[in-house]
Amino acid sequence: MSGDGQCIFGSMKQLLLEHYSMIYQVVVAVLTIAVIYKAFFNKKNLPVRPKRDIGTSPASLGTGAEIDCVNPATGKSMGIIKSLKTDEVKTCLKAAQVAQAEWGKTSFDERRQILQDFIDMFIKNENELVEASMRDTGKTRFEATFGEILTSCEKLRYLIQNGENALKTEERKVPMLMGTKAARLEYHPLGVIGIIIPWNYPIHSIISAAAAAIFSGNAALVKVSEWSTHSKILFEHLVRKVLANRGHDPNLIQILPGMGETGEALVRCGVDKILFIGSPGTGKRVMKAASDNLTPVILELGGKDPMIVFDDVDLDWALAVVQRGCFINLGQNCISSERVFVHEKIYDQFSKLMAEKINSLKQGPPEEGHFDFGSMTMPAQVDKVEHLVNTAIKEGATLLAGGKRNPAYTKGNYFLPTVLSNVTEKMTIFNEEAFGPVCTLVKFSNEEELVRMANGTAFGLGCSILSTDLKRAERIGSKISTGMLTINDYGASYLVQDLPFGGCKESGFGRFNGPEGLRGFSREVSILTDRYPIKTPVPRLIRYPIDPNSVGIIRSAIYMIYQRGVANKIRAAINFTSQVIRNPKLLM
Ligand SMILES: *[C@@H]1O[C@H](CO)[C@@H](O)[C@H](O)[C@H]1NC(C)=O
Ligand SMILES: *[C@@H]1O[C@H](CO)[C@@H](O)[C@H](O)[C@H]1NC(C)=O
Ligand SMILES: *[C@@H]1O[C@H](CO)[C@@H](O)[C@H](O)[C@H]1NC(C)=O
Repeated sequence: MSGDGQCIFGSMKQLLLEHYSMIYQVVVAVLTIAVIYKAFFNKKNLPVRPKRDIGTSPASLGTGAEIDCVNPATGKSMGIIKSLKTDEVKTCLKAAQVAQAEWGKTSFDERRQILQDFIDMFIKNENELVEASMRDTGKTRFEATFGEILTSCEKLRYLIQNGENALKTEERKVPMLMGTKAARLEYHPLGVIGIIIPWNYPIHSIISAAAAAIFSGNAALVKVSEWSTHSKILFEHLVRKVLANRGHDPNLIQILPGMGETGEALVRCGVDKILFIGSPGTGKRVMKAASDNLTPVILELGGKDPMIVFDDVDLDWALAVVQRGCFINLGQNCISSERVFVHEKIYDQFSKLMAEKINSLKQGPPEEGHFDFGSMTMPAQVDKVEHLVNTAIKEGATLLAGGKRNPAYTKGNYFLPTVLSNVTEKMTIFNEEAFGPVCTLVKFSNEEELVRMANGTAFGLGCSILSTDLKRAERIGSKISTGMLTINDYGASYLVQDLPFGGCKESGFGRFNGPEGLRGFSREVSILTDRYPIKTPVPRLIRYPIDPNSVGIIRSAIYMIYQRGVANKIRAAINFTSQVIRNPKLLM
């Protein structure tokens, strides 16, 4: 038998090898035909809606406090945008509710069509969007292309391909005694989702949350940060154009400018759910305010993510991963590697190489040339980073690179990418989120010490571990309270949109991204109905007035079904039967 099998496989292998190029061509031809067929002949019959006027968003009619939109890389003002007052937020909500009433009835095919239009919009306007983000945040062209455009396109592609699956009705199990029933769980739109985003990715954060909200059938009100408001003018125009062109109400997604007052108004205005992305302090206030209406919240708060480097790694590779973890977007990421733990065997060399590399990189205004780093976004954040770094040095850390504002640029928010070594658990910078360009290197010598230190902050968002020993990495990872664990990479799970994003402890709760993100924007409806067209009888046993013998029968049924041991079950069954025989009418 096995000889024959081998012979058959042998000759098949021969055949494959001989005709490899022909087989390859046939496969390519078949795939090409399939793609063309899908594109031209398999068009879904989507309803054709008359185009609408793009109109004006109620969110751009604010009359509240003035926001001076300053380019943080140059210090120059780009103009004034007015905040929305409390009653103006209510107007936005009403318009969103009108839009949602219609949108909630659309099919997944129609929703996918809009998301595909959004991808086209990103590609067609890539340059303008990248530059709008650069001007709003001070980030480089690379950062904007990677962090705003690529991530957004991938999010949209994921939703187009997998969103429907996450929201499909699920069959649920019924117990044997209720075998005539059918149980299922459905995901319905919630209504209007209120979303409050920070300033680090002003474009991606809007579309990431809003696309999931509308794919689940909701409308989205997105409050943007007063520190990166300007790009909303362009982005809102593009989004409204896409919706209006397909005949949908452009008020489905509104982008609300404003400060704390506007955010609070959004939380209190009667939206059906809140997604808040920001600091733990504000997150707690959001939750308190939301509790007045019992509005549910998802909180994505800060982090103090550990990045762990074992001594078995390739140094060059590990340095590249850690640099990305600490300095991408100048560390202004909730999942920034805020604490880098390096094994004592490689600690000194790793520190030296890290410092050399960072000292060799260039920082400057992104619109004036090619730089590795741009400016930070929020002036107060520069102060905070400066304070944390100075405090760390006072507390005994060794400064190896940066450590101060960039003296070459006094106009913008420039803090030099900084490397600190000899950092210990006692230091302020070990425990407080910096949200800036600082790499803090902590030495560890054994696993027990490592776990205690890595797990030892109030936060629990992400964690990265670099080691060629995957078993060890998993073992350490499982001991750290975290929402996300990445082995041998940094931040890569953000591009795996099927994985939910979120943390524990002071990093918040609830998830966005992945199926959980879509379901989080849904009202779950548990449905129980008849499996067959037969009426389920209501026995006398559970009808009013309650018969005094009912309790005994129910009790013996409980013993019969749930008690351990065959003898016990039989005893209970006899008891049950004898009671039923005495009161036969009770089961009818
Ligand atoms: C740590 O501090 C000691 C004492 O100041 C110093 O000699 C050493 O170079 C520092 N280590 C690193 C990696 O900077
Ligand atoms: C990690 O920290 C959490 C609390 O923040 C604690 O409950 C848990 O026991 C810690 N894990 C280990 C392995 O110490
Ligand atoms: C059935 O069980 C009840 C207690 O649940 C007991 O009072 C009664 O005597 C039992 N009857 C028989 C026939 O075993």
